[in-house]
Amino acid sequence: MEDKIKKMVRKEVMNFVPYVSGKPIDEVKRELGIKGKVIKLASNENSIGVSKKVIQTLKKSLDGINRYPDSSSYILRKAIAKKHDLKTENIIMGSGTDEIIELIGKTFLNQEDEIVVSEHAFIRYKMAGELMGCKVVSVPMKNFTHDLKAMAKAVNGNTKVVFIANPNNPTGTYNTVEEVREFFVYIESNRLNPLVVFDEAYYEYARVQKNYPETILLLEKYPNIVILRTFSKIHSLAGLRAGYGIAAPEVISYLDRIRPPFNINLLAQIAALEALSDNAQIRESVRLVEKEKKYLYSEITKLKLNYIQSAANFILIDVSIKTGQEVFQELLKKGVIVRAMDEYGFPNHIRVTIGLTEENSIFISALKKILL
Ligand SMILES: Cc1ncc(COP(=O)(O)O)c(C=O)c1O
Repeated sequence: MEDKIKKMVRKEVMNFVPYVSGKPIDEVKRELGIKGKVIKLASNENSIGVSKKVIQTLKKSLDGINRYPDSSSYILRKAIAKKHDLKTENIIMGSGTDEIIELIGKTFLNQEDEIVVSEHAFIRYKMAGELMGCKVVSVPMKNFTHDLKAMAKAVNGNTKVVFIANPNNPTGTYNTVEEVREFFVYIESNRLNPLVVFDEAYYEYARVQKNYPETILLLEKYPNIVILRTFSKIHSLAGLRAGYGIAAPEVISYLDRIRPPFNINLLAQIAALEALSDNAQIRESVRLVEKEKKYLYSEITKLKLNYIQSAANFILIDVSIKTGQEVFQELLKKGVIVRAMDEYGFPNHIRVTIGLTEENSIFISALKKILL
C-alpha cells in the first residue's frame, strides 16, 4: 500500500525538503525535561509582545468567531493601501508572507522556467521554485549580501521571478538604493522582464539604515515588482499569521485567483488592522532592537566571535570553535532556543533573535558557559 501511495506523489513533492521551523518553548521543555524558564530567540519574533490596544480589540471580537471572516480582508487591505498611499487593488493578504511566496510560485512558475535567488537567502523562495519543478539559479553572495549585479546577470529569457530578501534572513544584510537602481538599469537595458520580489519582512527595522531603498516608490516605474511585508515581526502577530503583498493590480489579480478563500482568519484581520497604526509599538520595538544590538555586538566581540552587522532583529554569529549544531544543542539544554544554520549553508553559525534585555543577557551568559 505504502508503495502505491508513493508512486502517486508528485516527483517535486517526493524530492521536497520540508522547512525546519524554530523549536516551540513547550516542545523544548517536554523533550529536555526542563522545569525552569526557557527563552525562544529562534524565529525572529518580537519579544515585546502584542500591545494592550490589540489585545483589548481582540477580546471584544471573540464573540464573532462563529462566522467566516471576510474572504478578501477588504477593510484591512483598504487600511494597508491607505497607509502606503496606494489602492486596495494593490494589496493581497497572505497567511504570513510565506503563503504569498508560495502563491507567486503557483501563479507564475512552469517546469521550463527559472527563478533567481541569492545563495544564502531565506529558504522559502528556493522551496517555492522546487515545489513547481522549475530551475532554481542560486547566485553566490558578496560579503554575505545579495550580489544584485551578479543576480541581474543571471536573469535570462526563461527567468520568471527574482527573489530579493531585503534585509535577508539569516544574514541580516541589505541592499542599498543604488544597488537596486543598478539592478533595474541592467534588467531594462537587456530587455528582460522578470517579476522582481522584494521580501521586506523586516522593513520597519531596516528603514533606519543608511540608503535603505523605499521600493514602493519604484512601483509606478516598474510594474513587475512585488513587495512583501508582514505582521509577524515588528507588529508581534506571528501566531496569527498575516502578511501582505504590494504590486500592480494586474499582478495582484492573478495571485488572488488562487489565494485560498478566507486565508486570513477573523482575529488576524482584526488584530492586524489595529496593529497597523500602532506607531508607539513600532517605535519601541525599533528602539529596543537598536539598543540591544549594540549590547550583543559588544558581548559577542568580547567572546572573540565574528558576527555579521544586521539590519534586522537577529544576528548571524560565527561560532566556529564548535559547529552551529553543537552550540544550538548546548544552548537548548540551558533553556535558550536559537537556530543552527546548516540548511542555509552555514554549518558554523547560529542565528539569534534580538529579544528583551533580560533574554539577551541570559543568552550571552549561556553562550559564555558553553564557549569559555
Ligand atoms: C525574510 C523572510 N521572509 C518571510 C518570512 C515569513 O514570515 P511570515 O510568513 O510570518 O510573514 C520570514 C520569516 O522568518 C522571513 O525571515
